Amino acid sequence: MKSVTDFSRYHSEGQPISMVTCYDAWSARLIAETNVDAVLVGDSVAMVMHGHPSTVHATTDMMASHTAAVRRGIGDRFVTTDIPFPEHRKGLRGAMESVDTIMKAGANAVKIEGAQGHLDVIRHIVQSGVPVMGHLGLTPQSVNLMGGYRVQGREAAAAQQIELDALALQEAGVYALVLECVPAELAARVTESLSIPTIGIGSGPSCSGQILVLQDLLGMNLGFKPKFLRTYAEGSQNIMHALNSYNEDVKAGSFPSLEESFHYETTRKH
Ligand code: KIV
Ligand code: NA
Repeated sequence: MKSVTDFSRYHSEGQPISMVTCYDAWSARLIAETNVDAVLVGDSVAMVMHGHPSTVHATTDMMASHTAAVRRGIGDRFVTTDIPFPEHRKGLRGAMESVDTIMKAGANAVKIEGAQGHLDVIRHIVQSGVPVMGHLGLTPQSVNLMGGYRVQGREAAAAQQIELDALALQEAGVYALVLECVPAELAARVTESLSIPTIGIGSGPSCSGQILVLQDLLGMNLGFKPKFLRTYAEGSQNIMHALNSYNEDVKAGSFPSLEESFHYETTRKH
């Protein structure tokens, strides 16, 4: 995908949308060679790449730095970047300063968690010419309020609030909506009620698209195996095996070989 209109086009054609997170130029260059539709510079970068205990620790500067790196590797593929906690709760000016920095770093769109209390901010950002992606259900920036990472919308009242918030976000102009860790039946109902696509993570098969954290789907996040995650590679095992092989070769003196070394020789240029 190269533009925000591709989201509605895929959706109207009934074509599922595949998204992964991307934090750096190295993985961006790999993703750019695949058929994955679009990437998210998620604020999960604060946990996955910086080792923080929650996404509360992400900052606008952190998001902008990773967005710029992703842009240098991803070509013209569509990039959405998370607005980190609590920039969208600082009023229009605070929110727009974060949006400004992130867009100038190379994002095509921003994602904002939640709806209640900042629908006006979302509407203002969209009216300013910046596509906004919504995010409901498990909203990790609110982990301290939710008391942990758990499925949201199991009770009728909570489910109804998510349905109402989804409609309000669509009305505010979001181009797509992430549904994180809600019951599959609720995700199906929300998807059915909207004209914009839903992008699910841990929210069942009825969403209009899916997103996973790259390191999770590659099996590189040691010991992290929630129910919703399917791992497509033995990332950790492969990497640790490679590193141990390298260590063995160095210790055994078998790396580097003479062929992997430079020599005084006039007929061959390294
Ligand atoms: O930060 C993130 O990685 C996300 C996705 C999981 C939706 O918000
Ligand atoms: Na996020």
